[in-house]
Amino acid sequence: MGLKSVTIGSVIAALAQTAAASQPGAAEPVPAPMRDLVWGKLNFLHTTDTHGWHGGHLQEAQYSADWGDYVSFAEHMRKRADEDGVDLLLVDTGDRVEGNGLYDASSPKGKYYYDIYREQDVDIICTGNHELYIASTADGEHLYTVPNFKQHYIASNLDYIDPKSGEIMPMAQRYRKFQTKNQKLDVVAFGFLFDFTGNANNTIVQPVRETVREKWFQDAIQEETDVFVVIGHVGVRMPEFKTIFRAIRKQNPLTPILFFGGHVHIRDATTYDERSFAVASGRYFETIGWMSVDGELERTSLSEDAGFSFHRRYIDNNLLGLQYHTGLDATTFPTDHGRNVSAMIAKARNELDLDYAFGCAPKTLWMSRSPYPGDDSIYSWLEEEVLPDVVVNPNRRDVPRLAIFNTGAIRFDIFKGAFTRDTTFIVSPFLSVLTYIPDVPYDKARQVIDLLNNAGKIMESTSMDNRFMAIPEQLVIHESIVHEAPESDINVDASQQKPLGESADRRPHLTEGYTTRDAIGTDGDDTLHKPVNFYVVPNCVQAEVGFPQEGEPETVDLVFLDFITPWILMALRVVGGEYSEEDVQLYAEGTFTDMMAGWIEENWPKHC
Ligand SMILES: *[C@@H]1O[C@H](CO)[C@@H](O)[C@H](O)[C@H]1NC(C)=O
Ligand SMILES: *[C@@H]1O[C@H](CO)[C@@H](O)[C@H](O)[C@H]1NC(C)=O
Repeated sequence: MGLKSVTIGSVIAALAQTAAASQPGAAEPVPAPMRDLVWGKLNFLHTTDTHGWHGGHLQEAQYSADWGDYVSFAEHMRKRADEDGVDLLLVDTGDRVEGNGLYDASSPKGKYYYDIYREQDVDIICTGNHELYIASTADGEHLYTVPNFKQHYIASNLDYIDPKSGEIMPMAQRYRKFQTKNQKLDVVAFGFLFDFTGNANNTIVQPVRETVREKWFQDAIQEETDVFVVIGHVGVRMPEFKTIFRAIRKQNPLTPILFFGGHVHIRDATTYDERSFAVASGRYFETIGWMSVDGELERTSLSEDAGFSFHRRYIDNNLLGLQYHTGLDATTFPTDHGRNVSAMIAKARNELDLDYAFGCAPKTLWMSRSPYPGDDSIYSWLEEEVLPDVVVNPNRRDVPRLAIFNTGAIRFDIFKGAFTRDTTFIVSPFLSVLTYIPDVPYDKARQVIDLLNNAGKIMESTSMDNRFMAIPEQLVIHESIVHEAPESDINVDASQQKPLGESADRRPHLTEGYTTRDAIGTDGDDTLHKPVNFYVVPNCVQAEVGFPQEGEPETVDLVFLDFITPWILMALRVVGGEYSEEDVQLYAEGTFTDMMAGWIEENWPKHC
């Protein structure tokens, strides 16, 4: 990329004071240099892995727009498509649930979410694995989201089992053929889930390699169409998409094939050949993905010589950016419908009391943006402050204990400021409890942490990958999380940028954020950022609690989150400690999330 392609958002800068973020109390976005969207004949907006963040990130200015703002944005973008005689389609690739109070805090879960989510007019939508872990979540999907989106919902390799009759039925139609609004282009669309096996027993996921051999699929890929659109809860570099690509391409040597993926929580894009393009649009409603394709799309003009051009953009989800891309301002941007949806969200958040503050975080605690161990590491905070206080069992308070905590149990950073009910679900959405094995010889127990933290597997012969105890972002670290040479992508010496209407001494301040490197290049992000640091964290951290002042204990209680029981047992076995599931007991009542909230209530100031 070149900095020439960057347009400075001088319009934005002027509007900074009036951006009025949609959820009350959400952080105000900061003006930043922008890259424009490139429109083609067929254009897409894409969300994935939103995990309940439809209220936006109230504490992070860069991602503070909500689902209502996205409704407004889509309305303006569709209007522009109509005016230009091109087409715009909206796509969502699943994992809409679990991970934010707006979904998780209600009883039953999702009480408000289904009605809020459906307000967006999504053209092609499919299921993620998080819709399927718990039977009642899959029921909710079948009862609400599938009918809410009717013929827009696609389930190419997913069946649902009716709880009453036991009947097996497709979760939704297998594929969809439709015409675009303005150019009447024929689209054949599929909706896939990766070869997921952890689903509850009321759904059946068919492996993708089997689905592409089904007669309905082979028939569908021989339909007359101008373009194939494959959406999936699948990483764009995962084998499932390549299998689908090969199957379609075999029958259709010249037709463009567009892929929308997700699941791995990263911004990513790639191509499988010069007539295909694949985009993944991040996580947690931080990103709205943009894809466009241009060229002679009508199948009558297909030829080996006539190619296509594809573009992608990762839009940071904040009002300044959304206004910038629509050429509107704080007054003209919100639509009636968008405002109503923002109001629905505010009402739900209010009824769920999500802003109830357990306490005020005195500073920001990072998962991987600052080194562990360190003053700003959330894991050092847990190890040194929280665990020593909460790992207490009244009946065993005199027994020294080693408390082991897997880093993957924490899902998000804690920002300076109010730590609210919402924050508890964001930081620690799992219902993990503290369990223990009593009276383990210390010379064995002390060796466990190192075994858990070695990079590969505890023993070569086991299939238990230690990395599954750590944060999922580390699994794809080789792809696009760590950027070795950010300085060459973004010229931090902004004096060379000669921004429009700004002299060099008033150069724009770059905030930290995504600096994506995908298979296409380094110009995908709509906003120029300084790169975010990424420090690798261990799989597990450990606290010594109630240890003698001097010397070593003979035996300890080995305390750990129930999730990592299999790894703990395996590690003990390696050092000669034969224990089984029967030796594992509950150490303390309540979930770890509740303990953490309780600790904050007692130890952090109540008000900011
Ligand atoms: C799923 O598992 C539950 C609990 O074990 C059981 O009651 C139910 O009958 C099972 N359902 C199916 C469709 O197998
Ligand atoms: C927004 O809400 C108002 C008041 O409830 C209602 O009258 C109006 O029809 C809604 N508009 C849209 C576009 O949803």
